[in-house]
Amino acid sequence: MTQRRKKTIGRRQFLARSGAAGAALWALSPTARVLGANDRLRLGLIGGGARGQELLSQALKLPNVELVALADVYTRRHDEVHRVAPAARAFRDHRRLLELKDVDAVLVASPLHCHARHFLDTIAAGKDLYSEKTMTWSIPEAEACLAAAKRSDRVVQIGLQHVSTGAFADARKWVADGVVGKVTSVESWMSRNTPRGHGQWVRPVPPDCTADNVQWDLFLNGRPARPFDAFRFINWRLFWEYSGGNITENMVHQLSWIMGVLDLPVPVAAYMSGGVFSEKDGREVPDTIAVTLDFPGDLVVSWQSTFSNSRYGLGERILGSHGTVERVSGSTDMVTGRLMSGVRYDPEKVNRPDGAAVVGESADQDHMANFFDCVRARKTPNAPVEVGYRTAVAAHMANLAYRQKAPHQTSTPSVVKYTPAGVPSPASASSMPISRRSSRRSPTGSFPRPTPSARKRRASTSSSM
Ligand SMILES: NC(=O)c1ccc[n+]([C@@H]2O[C@H](COP(=O)([O-])OP(=O)(O)OC[C@H]3O[C@@H](n4cnc5c(N)ncnc54)[C@H](O)[C@@H]3O)[C@@H](O)[C@H]2O)c1
Repeated sequence: MTQRRKKTIGRRQFLARSGAAGAALWALSPTARVLGANDRLRLGLIGGGARGQELLSQALKLPNVELVALADVYTRRHDEVHRVAPAARAFRDHRRLLELKDVDAVLVASPLHCHARHFLDTIAAGKDLYSEKTMTWSIPEAEACLAAAKRSDRVVQIGLQHVSTGAFADARKWVADGVVGKVTSVESWMSRNTPRGHGQWVRPVPPDCTADNVQWDLFLNGRPARPFDAFRFINWRLFWEYSGGNITENMVHQLSWIMGVLDLPVPVAAYMSGGVFSEKDGREVPDTIAVTLDFPGDLVVSWQSTFSNSRYGLGERILGSHGTVERVSGSTDMVTGRLMSGVRYDPEKVNRPDGAAVVGESADQDHMANFFDCVRARKTPNAPVEVGYRTAVAAHMANLAYRQKAPHQTSTPSVVKYTPAGVPSPASASSMPISRRSSRRSPTGSFPRPTPSARKRRASTSSSM
C-alpha cells in the first residue's frame, strides 16, 4: 500500500481519531487524505483573476504548499498563473479540476454569482475549501452552502480576513470583559474617491478578451443567455446578475467584524437607501448607500458608503453605555486591514469614572495560514461557514430592501435543495417568505472564539477592490 493510500481513511476511523463521534459528519469523502504537519498540501484554484492570484501568492509563501491545478474560463488567467506555478494543470471547467485525486484543498475566487456552485461542487468532491466572500450571491444559496458544509466534514474558511485581525481579538475581549457595557448602536462607514470620469471599480478590457478565449456559458452559470460581452465579463461587479455591489464587496467585511465582535445572529430587519449618484457609467449597483440593520436584543448597526469622497476612510464605532470601541482605516485599507491608529477603547466616564483608554495590542493572524493549519489539524478556522452564512444573509437582506424599496425582514430559513445541474435561480432570492424572528439565538451557533495563541504573522493581502 502506498503512503498516500495508507493515509486515505474512512469515516469511522476519522471520527475515532478526531474524537468527533456523534457530530453530524455524514458526508465524509472516502478519498479525503489526512495531512500530517509536514505533508505537502496540494491546492486547486478556481478563478485565477485579480484576487485569485493574490490568494495564490499568499498561499505559496507558506511552507509545504503547491498549486496542482487551476480552473478559469479565461485563457489569459492560465498564462498569468503559469508564470508563478508553471506545472499547474489548467482547465476552463472547474469540474475537471475537482475530479483530480491529488487536490486536497481548493481556493475559490470566482465572481460572486459562481461562488455557490463552486462551494457546493468542491464540498461534494470531498475537498477542503477557502472561498472568497461574500459566501454566496443570494440567501437561498447561503442556506444550501451552510447545509452542505454541515453535512460534511470539510474545513471551510470564507475570505473574511478581518476576523483574523488582532483588532478583532482585542475588541471581542473588551466586549466580553464588560467594559463596553450595553451596546444599542454601532456606526460604520466606507468612503472612497477616484478622479472624476474614472468610475470606481471599472477595469479596462484586455485585447485578448474575446469569445474564443473565454468560455462564456460557464461564466453565465445559469444567468439568462446573452451574446458574449467582454465589458460585462471583466466588470461583473457593476451588474446585479453577477454581483451584490458594494454591500457584498465591502460592507460584508465590516459586518463580519462587527457581528463577530458582538456575537450577533442574522438581523431581524434591513433598510437600505441610495442609488447610482456619482458613477453614471451604466452600472446597476449603487455607489452611494445608507444601510440600517436591526438586530435582536435592541441593537441598530448602520453602514454608509460613498465613491465620491474619501476623507473619512473606513471604520467602525461600537457605542456602549460604558465605553466606545473604534477602528479606523484609510480609504484603501479594506483588503489589507491596516489601521490608522490601531483599535482603541475609550471609557464613558459617566458609567466608568475610573476607566482608562486602551489601545489594542494583539497581533494579526494570517487568514490563509489559519486555513492551512485547520486543514492539517481538522479544526474550525476563524471564518467558518456559519460566519459566511450570517454575513451573507445580512448583506443580501440589505440589497433586497434596496431593490424592493421596502424594509426586508428575516425569512424563515428554508434549506434549498441543491442539484449539481444548477444553483437556485436569481429570481428565487427575492421570493423568500417573510416572518419576523424574535429570538436572540442564532440558528447557526455562535462565532468561533479567536485562537488564543495568535501567531505573529501579519495578515497579508493587497488588493484594490
Ligand atoms: N477578501 C478580499 O479582500 C477580496 C478582495 C478582492 C476580491 N475579493 C473577491 O474575490 C472574488 C473575485 O474577485 P476578482 O476581483 O479577482 O475578480 P476577477 O474578475 O479579477 O477574477 C475572477 C476570475 O474568475 C474567472 N471566472 C469567471 N467565471 C468563472 C467560472 N465559472 N469558473 C472559473 N473561473 C471563472 C474569471 O475569468 C476571472 O479570472 C470576488 O468574489 C471578490 O469579492 C475578495
